[in-house]
Amino acid sequence: MCKKPYYITTPIYYSSGNFHLGHCYTTIICDAIARFKRLDGFDVFYLTGTDEHGQKVQEKAAAKGVTPQAFVDELYKQIVELWKVLDISYDKFIRTTDDYHELTVQKVYEKLLANGDIYKSEYEGWYCTPCEAFFTESQLTEDHRCPDCGREVHMAKEESYFFRLSKYQDKLVKFYEENPEFISPKSRMNEMINNFIKPGLKDLCVSRTTFNWGVKLPFDEKHVAYVWIDALTNYITSLGYLQEDHANFDKYWPADLHMVGKEIVRFHTIIWPALLMALDLPLPKKVYGHGWLLFGNDKMSKSKGNIVDPFFLVDRYGLDPIRYYLLREIPFGSDGNYTNEALLTRTNSDLVNDLGNLVSRTTAMVTQYFGGTIPAPNDYTDLDKELIALCTSTLPVVRQNIEDLSAPDALTNIFKIIQRANKYIDETMPWALNKEGNKQRLATVMYVLCECIRYSATLLLPFITKTAKVIFGKLGLEVPTNFDSLATFGQIKEGTVVNKGENLFNRIDINKELAALDKIAEEQAQAAAQSNKEATPAEDLIDIADFAKVKLCTAKVISCEKVAKSDKLLVFKLQVGEEIRQVVSGIAQHYDPEYMIGKTVVLVKNLKPAKIRGVESNGMILCAADDKKVIFVTPESDIDSGKEVR
Ligand code: ME8
Ligand code: MG
Repeated sequence: MCKKPYYITTPIYYSSGNFHLGHCYTTIICDAIARFKRLDGFDVFYLTGTDEHGQKVQEKAAAKGVTPQAFVDELYKQIVELWKVLDISYDKFIRTTDDYHELTVQKVYEKLLANGDIYKSEYEGWYCTPCEAFFTESQLTEDHRCPDCGREVHMAKEESYFFRLSKYQDKLVKFYEENPEFISPKSRMNEMINNFIKPGLKDLCVSRTTFNWGVKLPFDEKHVAYVWIDALTNYITSLGYLQEDHANFDKYWPADLHMVGKEIVRFHTIIWPALLMALDLPLPKKVYGHGWLLFGNDKMSKSKGNIVDPFFLVDRYGLDPIRYYLLREIPFGSDGNYTNEALLTRTNSDLVNDLGNLVSRTTAMVTQYFGGTIPAPNDYTDLDKELIALCTSTLPVVRQNIEDLSAPDALTNIFKIIQRANKYIDETMPWALNKEGNKQRLATVMYVLCECIRYSATLLLPFITKTAKVIFGKLGLEVPTNFDSLATFGQIKEGTVVNKGENLFNRIDINKELAALDKIAEEQAQAAAQSNKEATPAEDLIDIADFAKVKLCTAKVISCEKVAKSDKLLVFKLQVGEEIRQVVSGIAQHYDPEYMIGKTVVLVKNLKPAKIRGVESNGMILCAADDKKVIFVTPESDIDSGKEVR
């Protein structure tokens, strides 16, 4: 029988810095969906890759003193390693610097030009000469200067190529109306229509001459392709579009699902479909814009430096707790906060208590009562039948959850079997049956439990890939390659030999672990500060605009006390103009609280609030330090509080 094709993609990630847990989030979700679909009988093509061109890459490479190619090669190595560590089952990895991709992007531009969808005109905007960059009015600083360097800008014109995006406005609206599922979740559809379509689409500038790390336009080599056109076409170049071998394109296009973060839904639901219309190609079936993984209410991102290192997490906890947490905990479609505490709590409650316990109790009992071989069941009671019905009815439910792209619901439903089975142990009390010598009933109970585990493990294969396989090993069963074995209860053969082995997961002492993580974070921050000091000057230099982001001002100490149970921390109440601020500072070993009262200090005013040892801190007091002492910085003569320091 011919399998139904299913084509799923992640965004191709920018090779401009280290990859983080946010990138893992999208890739793991797509992996779970791809694996589920494969087990469910689809012919899946799962694509991921890297977006390697553009000004930012060129600049980063220059700052590091390497060629852009060397720069992206290094990051490619990193990401391939990352996907290996995370057990990502992609079918193809595309790099936008791959030859076949670059050549096809050129063909796409030629085609668009020939059809009249691309035309040459002038781009007009605010230009910063030293930065060689154009800005729109709204991108400029408040005092109308370059947002990057703070210098003056002037109106300038540049020859550019434009894509007739405006031409596709009505067609797009019609397409959305006819395909209400195209932009998901639904809320994002309204966002696109109200914010972008209704105000009217403008033609899109699709070439650049201010940098050269990109695909050269075949008809005008001064220009390189706009990085988003270069990037979006990856979804078809990877399949062989306009290439000699286009079997995959014929088979898999249009895509079933482009999974993306919500910030790039606009590119995928306006520019991409318009481009495909211009190329006269069918449009993807769905673009899903998922929410962000937040870190203390901030989007986890390379540019903010608040990233969580996935290599570190997997090394410390193993892969499946991370996959499980991301798939189960973050409400799909909405933003979700990453916290170490939630990761550890999830691991203990679901993986250790529910799943781990069920498997270890069952295998231990089969070992103890039946010498390690699974017995044949006898008559099923109503209680057994209830569990059996739960097992056999779960696949359709989970299938619907995956159809709705809700991994949290899918996992919740799979865990219902696990939780019910644990309760069944308490209800049937196998130890009592053993004492009574009721081997007949005991055999049935063991068999039902083993089957419940088989059902759960099969359904868990797409999600916690390694553990699910380990469970089959423990049950003495082959790892299934499809869901066929879920059709009927009672597939395990009498006499199958179990192997209890080690626990699947170890319980984590959460408080102890959180303290250990705090300590590691502190050490890493110190190491980073140290290596920053040693970094090459070129990388360390900042613009005046960067400095201007730090708001400094004078502040007068109204009160100062030690923070309970800490020998390093002082908590200050500071007068800052009209305002009173609470700030925590780590200078208790250098100053008596008494001594500080009445002093004027310099405060970093716009530091994000933080809790230090549970005490709220809104800002930071500037100090100078050497190996032995730390001294606070104070104005040279008297000045009111709340005055700017610059
Ligand atoms: O935008 N939470 O690349 P990118 C959740 N190259 N997901 C996150 C995330 C977070 N905090 N941070 C990143 C680009 N992501 C373009 C895409 S596609 C033709 C070109 C995930 O490196 C999420 O999927 O900035 C987001 O859309 C993507 O990484 C952006 O990756
Ligand atoms: Mg981004």
